[in-house]
Amino acid sequence: MTQHLLLGQTLSFTGDPIVSDWRDVTHHDSAGAVLVADGRIAATGPATALRRDYPQAKIHDYGNALITAGFVDAHMHYPQTAMIASWGKRLIDWLNTYTFPEEMQFGDRAYADEIAARTLDLALAHGTTTLTSFCTIHPESVDAFFSAAQARDMAVVAGKTCMDRNAPDGLRDSAQSAYDDSKALLGRWHGKGRATYAITPRFTPTSTPDQLHALGALWREYPDCLMQTHLSEQVDEIAWVRDLHPQARDYLDTYESAGLLGERGLYGHAIHLEPREIDRIAEVGGAVVHCPTSNTFIGSGLFDMAGLKARGISIGLATDTGGGSSFSMLRTMAAAYEIAQLRGVPLHPAQLMWLASEGSARALHMGGKIGSLSQGAAADICVIDLASTPAIAQRTGVANDIWEALFPTIMMGDDRAIAEVWVKGKVR
Ligand code: GUN
Ligand code: ZN
Repeated sequence: MTQHLLLGQTLSFTGDPIVSDWRDVTHHDSAGAVLVADGRIAATGPATALRRDYPQAKIHDYGNALITAGFVDAHMHYPQTAMIASWGKRLIDWLNTYTFPEEMQFGDRAYADEIAARTLDLALAHGTTTLTSFCTIHPESVDAFFSAAQARDMAVVAGKTCMDRNAPDGLRDSAQSAYDDSKALLGRWHGKGRATYAITPRFTPTSTPDQLHALGALWREYPDCLMQTHLSEQVDEIAWVRDLHPQARDYLDTYESAGLLGERGLYGHAIHLEPREIDRIAEVGGAVVHCPTSNTFIGSGLFDMAGLKARGISIGLATDTGGGSSFSMLRTMAAAYEIAQLRGVPLHPAQLMWLASEGSARALHMGGKIGSLSQGAAADICVIDLASTPAIAQRTGVANDIWEALFPTIMMGDDRAIAEVWVKGKVR
């Protein structure tokens, strides 16, 4: 078995740098090394020590580049790749004008295959090694995505997006078919290789109570699946949910009463939450997923990172492609920084890097398995060039420490900053 020794600067974590003081749990080595064997991280430490201990390992010298865990995108829509950056609408109009017509095409397996491959290749080019994706109502769209991920050895999470109301003809299923199709798909994919199935009601406006209950029942049958949906993204959406469900205590209650609130639940956006909703997510240990480029692009609002973290809620970071306006988790970190600034909280680069890797992995209940350079984690690795453009290089050139050297890439970097990506111990 070939061992690989990656040399460069390394960045790793031994805890949550938002809950703890980041200085106590963040480890930077300016002359570090990562040993990869059998698709996993076998060791991380100083280059001198690992070179001495593993003289037979094949050397990959990345010079001054930064070796980190591959990025983990905790919420996106691969079927929206081809319509990213569509102009001028807010959520509901944006869905009806741009999203639903595009998603209509995914009953065509060849088109779904093409966009799944394109999306995963774009993700890898941007240093993202795990995607958590909504598909469309078409089972073919789910097979296409998991097949494309399997061909690339990527750990992914995905599920059939279920909708049985308020969607156009050709883009609605039913309560029964959503249950049956989701059950067949999770039987086919969940736990197969690196695939994880997420039961996926799109959001309350597009699922009848019957459909939400059917999917809640399915989740009770398969509690080790994840469940992903959207929650409280825009005020108009929340008002619509109130009209549709006047008896519900709040938006989350429409999920909770259907059995769709749980520890393995992923609630995308979660911007305009009521105190009861925050209490319940915290009590059950569910995760919320922050999608900052989407929140500014569609005009949704300012996510309360500090407030939700203070309640102990697990938070993932995500592009929300194509409501989000970038495939890059670097750009996503920049947007998270900007939103936190507007809330009066400057997120440190260590905190941003953690959110984009281990934070997302923990939200997906995959902490220690992906999103980390710790021993035993999958060797999904991103090597970042900290001087990838003249504008970034001139700023990094006068940096006094790693954080000053890294932050310009977080704020201004894109796929040009990704020097190399490893997936399960192989260069992609
Ligand atoms: N809410 C329901 N569906 C969607 C979607 O596709 N994107 C975003 N951003 N929000 C949604
Ligand atoms: Zn979304």
